[in-house]
Amino acid sequence: MNPLPGPGLYIHFPWCVSKCPYCDFNSHPLDGDLDENGYLAALIGDFEANAGDGRFATAFLGGGTPSLFSAAAIRALLERLRPRLAEGAEITLEANPGVVEHGAFGAYRQAGINRLSIGAQSFSGAMLARLGRIHGPDEIERAVAEARAGGFDNINLDVMYGLPEQRAEDALADLKQAVALEPDHLSWYQLTIEPKTAFARHPPPTPDESAIAAMEEAGRALLAKAGYRRYEISAYARPGAECRHNLVYWTFGDYLGIGAGAAGKRRRAGQVVRTSKPRQPRLYLKDPGAVSESPVPNRELPGEFMMNALRLVEGVERRTFTDRCGLPWSSVAPTWERTTAMGLTEPSRIRATPFGLRHLDRLVQFFL
Ligand SMILES: C[S@@+](CC[C@H](N)C(=O)[O-])C[C@H]1O[C@@H](n2cnc3c(N)ncnc32)[C@H](O)[C@@H]1O
Ligand code: SF4
Repeated sequence: MNPLPGPGLYIHFPWCVSKCPYCDFNSHPLDGDLDENGYLAALIGDFEANAGDGRFATAFLGGGTPSLFSAAAIRALLERLRPRLAEGAEITLEANPGVVEHGAFGAYRQAGINRLSIGAQSFSGAMLARLGRIHGPDEIERAVAEARAGGFDNINLDVMYGLPEQRAEDALADLKQAVALEPDHLSWYQLTIEPKTAFARHPPPTPDESAIAAMEEAGRALLAKAGYRRYEISAYARPGAECRHNLVYWTFGDYLGIGAGAAGKRRRAGQVVRTSKPRQPRLYLKDPGAVSESPVPNRELPGEFMMNALRLVEGVERRTFTDRCGLPWSSVAPTWERTTAMGLTEPSRIRATPFGLRHLDRLVQFFL
């Protein structure tokens, strides 16, 4: 039996109310009405054309803003997918606290969503405005309360740090408020200035390296004390609440991506193949089943694998490398010995040392 998680199903919803200035996800400001039925039909056609056989262990409805879609639409989609989802599959929906109608969370839960990921980002009203968010702190609290009341017992909050002019105490205040809402999982991301975003065109003043290091040290201590175990570079969970879908990515597992701009990855006839879909909703809708495939050359596999697996605090067993890449350990052994001699990796497990985790980008470079 293969103890590794997967395969996963990623479903992309490419629209948002407006574009946040830091975001480079495939999200398009909704202009006019949302054609729920048209997009739903496209997703189902896409799935049927590309899903192959077998059942999916996880499904992740991400965006964009999937919560723009009504619970009835999500229910209709999940009903079609249900026979192809494993029993007990983790089914996540990303929700923007500014785009969920009152009472909708219970309906999403009844539609079959069993994990909710809420984009909080910060609990400072002024910071949320600066980040172009369409909600204030109160809506985040309301969203969590309504989600719990609606029956969700697996909730993630996304919070960012290293925000414009943020001081360590501001970042900690955000975390304290996040923890006070008792989420099961917390994704705590450092803000990155992505090319071609509004923040890249007009860079805001962000904290320097030493301020970031101070935030990280204090933030991690706060989260540990509150019972959240760091299991991936940016992911913290209460015991048992680790995100199974993201673990598919981090263990370099297979996943099908459907929807505009969705990426996928699968092993076929001993080769790792990446798939992609047109990013523009208009183009995607013309031919939802169409998919571009690009085989990953063997020489690129170690780098891609390590880029994912080394993010995991516990790492993975060595045989996972062979299971997922189809390559012998000897293909990376000399590099591994080197990074181990430098104190970046452990000798017998695919795992970064605490020092290696702090310098993950540099560590991964050795395998690229
Ligand atoms: C696809 S978005 C999520 C959900 C929803 N659209 C929302 O924003 O509420 C996934 C998460 O990635 C994080 N993120 C997006 N852009 C980022 C950036 N430039 N740097 C760091 N984190 C970022 C945010 O925390 C965001 O909630
Ligand atoms: S709401 Fe989320 S996906 Fe949409 S633009 Fe903002 S961060 Fe990006």
